[in-house]
Amino acid sequence: SGLKAITALAGTSWFLKACHTEEDMIGEPNWIVEGSFDRPLFIPSTVSNGVTLNAQFGTSELLKRKSSNTLGYGNGILGPTIRANTSETINVLLQNGLSEETNIHWHGLILPENMDGHPKDVASPGGSLQYTLPIQQRAGTYWYHPHPHGSTARQVFMGLAGMFIVNDSEEAALNLPSGEFEIPLIIQDKHFDGASLDYSPNEDEIMTGFLGEQILVNGIHAPVLDVASGWYRLRVLNGSTARVYNLALNGLPLHIIGADGGLLRAPETVSNILLGPGERLDLLVDFSSQPIGKEFYLVSNKFSQYNAQGRQAFNIMKFRVDRTASGSFTLPSSLSTIPVLDHLQAVATRTFDIAAMTGGEGGHSGMGRHSINGKIFEMDRVDETVQAGTTEVWEFDNMMGDEIHPMHVHGVQFQVLHRMGGRNQVMPAEKGWKDTVLVMPGEKVKVIMTFPQYRGVFVFHCHNLEHEDDGMMLNYQIV
Ligand code: C2O
Ligand code: CU
Repeated sequence: SGLKAITALAGTSWFLKACHTEEDMIGEPNWIVEGSFDRPLFIPSTVSNGVTLNAQFGTSELLKRKSSNTLGYGNGILGPTIRANTSETINVLLQNGLSEETNIHWHGLILPENMDGHPKDVASPGGSLQYTLPIQQRAGTYWYHPHPHGSTARQVFMGLAGMFIVNDSEEAALNLPSGEFEIPLIIQDKHFDGASLDYSPNEDEIMTGFLGEQILVNGIHAPVLDVASGWYRLRVLNGSTARVYNLALNGLPLHIIGADGGLLRAPETVSNILLGPGERLDLLVDFSSQPIGKEFYLVSNKFSQYNAQGRQAFNIMKFRVDRTASGSFTLPSSLSTIPVLDHLQAVATRTFDIAAMTGGEGGHSGMGRHSINGKIFEMDRVDETVQAGTTEVWEFDNMMGDEIHPMHVHGVQFQVLHRMGGRNQVMPAEKGWKDTVLVMPGEKVKVIMTFPQYRGVFVFHCHNLEHEDDGMMLNYQIV
């Protein structure tokens, strides 16, 4: 279609921007379809230890008054929010009611190898997997989703994903907004064929990532949340396969209190913030002193002229102040303590070229396939070996690239040390623990991490799920 052609033509890189003028641009691919923002936001149910997750086919009213085919953990789309406390062990039984293999990766959790959801550990159709998850890390907003190699993007797109929230006493002492004032927001773009969810990337969309023109929050298109005139905590997950959001709340400041691996040291207040696939944000927003009836949109602003999705701006959901809040809240000036990982502690630095395509001839569009250091994922090949308990610097080099790569490492949380090129700085939401980092075209990002004591083989990959399924993933072994 014309829309797809625009997306394909628009892969111009950031670092070439000096060479381009407005006239070079191919017109705005302004095809995000906005909705009526009058359907109440759905909040997934909360479960704790001992849950059974049935991966199954179902239906759900994603678009207003239309029934769509979905995959979900239970009927409908998505799964429940799992809540755990640090030092608890959570048991989850996955039952595979699909007609293909599936499994669950607990994104951001640090777990033994056989519990991590490596793509080799899958359940057959009709089969099941028992997960025993020792939660030994700090409070944070984590999530879960399937990881069968080659089908991860489609299974997530069709609806398999959920939040996994860990609480601890350090966080509880802050008395952050909770209950009805703590809202999970899973943001995903979807493509439909009529009312049917349609996952059908063409070769060009395997390059750019598959972008949907309808934005869902918690499985509802164009929803509204009625709020009190008080403080809210928004736990935001970008559960899209490839879309990056530049989030803003119509003029209200966003107070970032946490990111992938839990609370920051102190709040970072911004007007807008990029959130890549797989990343999470813990935000506080202040609706107090807002008059009843006032409406705010959570929007995604343009973030780059030189990238097809970067030129799109759209509304995501609406907040409508409909009552006064009782009680008050003051933004804490400090939130938590985070040890500084220093590059002098690192025993090794590894550099990963994430810009180049591999195998030009046979690949997609004749341009080759997504790779890391020229290698395409192989299930049984160990690509890197690291020592448990040691600290390393990993550098993701996208200086020569023209695509966005959110890089994710399993089994560990890292700190962002340095970003060269492009945005040229460690961003506000990157000042705590992270497990996924956005590496924009023209950027080189260094992260530092200490590997845990769990020996075994884990993957690291691009969390653009089309890139991941294309093979932009490697195995590393902790010995
Ligand atoms: Cu959420 Cu291997 O990824
Ligand atoms: Cu990528």
